[in-house]
Amino acid sequence: MTHPTIGLYGLGTMGAALSLNMADNGIQVHVANRTASAVLRFMEGAGPLAEKIVGHQNLEGLISALPQPRLLVAMIPSTAPMDSFLDDVIPQLAPGDTVIDAGNADFHSTRRRSERLAQHDLHFVGLGVSGGEEGARNGPSMMMGGSEASWSGLKQILTRIAATHEGDPCVDRCGPDGAGHFVKTVHNGIEYADMQMIAEVYDLLRFGAGRDVREVSGILKSWNEGRLESYLMEISGEVLSYADAPTNLPFIDLIMDRAGQKGTGRWTVIEAVKLGQSATMIEAAVAARAWSAEKPLRGMAEETFGADRADLDLDVGLLERAMLAARVLEYAQGFRILAAASEEYAWNLDPKRIAEIWRAGCIIRARLLDDIAGAFADGPPEGQLFLAPRFGGVLMEGIPALREVVTRAGQAGYATPVLSAALTFWDVMRQGRGTASLIQAQRDFFGRHGFERTDQEGDFHGPWWT
Ligand code: 6PG
Repeated sequence: MTHPTIGLYGLGTMGAALSLNMADNGIQVHVANRTASAVLRFMEGAGPLAEKIVGHQNLEGLISALPQPRLLVAMIPSTAPMDSFLDDVIPQLAPGDTVIDAGNADFHSTRRRSERLAQHDLHFVGLGVSGGEEGARNGPSMMMGGSEASWSGLKQILTRIAATHEGDPCVDRCGPDGAGHFVKTVHNGIEYADMQMIAEVYDLLRFGAGRDVREVSGILKSWNEGRLESYLMEISGEVLSYADAPTNLPFIDLIMDRAGQKGTGRWTVIEAVKLGQSATMIEAAVAARAWSAEKPLRGMAEETFGADRADLDLDVGLLERAMLAARVLEYAQGFRILAAASEEYAWNLDPKRIAEIWRAGCIIRARLLDDIAGAFADGPPEGQLFLAPRFGGVLMEGIPALREVVTRAGQAGYATPVLSAALTFWDVMRQGRGTASLIQAQRDFFGRHGFERTDQEGDFHGPWWT
């Protein structure tokens, strides 16, 4: 029996981990790197798995060793280096071959590259890979975008190396060209919102309710045993349990409060807006990271205005219910962007399957995703998760809790950008009649933009123009 064979170029952290994962799962792997010394180092570090991996001195050697149609993974930055890589490989490949970008790419670049390769009868796959280094090595969640032909070759490899949820591999073809990278981008947007929401609750518990950091760690860990179970909840409980060895201070207190971001959260917000959508919880999380980076300015404002905050005795159960409702709304916003993009780009994304492949291996894996997949299987009204009957109870119970948390936090001076955005989203969406009548009147007043009436068909202007 011949082993499925794949080539991988780029032995950085993720490339190396994916290569080992593939070799471990009976896949014949050929590897190369921009610097040949990295191949040697990688082969030395591969231990017994090195027998199942063929290292090549250069890209040419790697490409000529692969059987056709070739599958070639590029684990290099998805920006300009990917385009230079394509310049190099296109002349060396044969019709039917596939190049796979397994990094976090802007899906517009993926669509452009797909078109470029199609002109040479080649396939380009945008593969969203989630789970960090550990996931890449032992089972990531993967969101594939590309042709059916590429999927038929890749499927047997990716299903072997993916994380599984009750035996179901967490990988699938989401759609053509940029669909996989888009789904991964929205995954990261949800990741940003969930991380920020946990950070807000940590702030309320520790500095509002005056809980010791180890106690907060214990609360997050206990929530992780229940309906809020998720990877991000688990690691948050874990990191808060660490102390700095020499000082015994909570380790979290030694970490600078300035968050980095590589851009995927921002892309989610930009694309949502371009699609005429809202992703206010994700937007709030991106904003919170941006503001976090302005540390000197915040320090100055604190000196000027003071940073006083009142004590806030919040019940742990109340916070848990609030968070669960907010998490439903956070996923609901993410899936709304996916639905809008699916329509815009004719991707035919399957939200149920996306929820399923997020159930293990990825950063946003959460118990809730089982219910989300179930809700999409039932077909929620208007395709909207927040209208799904199975979330009715969680929302009816959780929204009053969320309202109390956000209101009391605001009164006491605590910022809750993501939790507040969740409540606002809910309060806007549950009003059959909103505030836009006045917006329309204003637009008409200053610009003669016209408006629809509630009582007659047509385009109208206000009496201010008569
Ligand atoms: C994942 C992560 C991964 C990475 C992000 C973090 O799904 O495995 O999302 O892709 O950690 O790039 O992004 P920021 O640096 O923007 O936080």
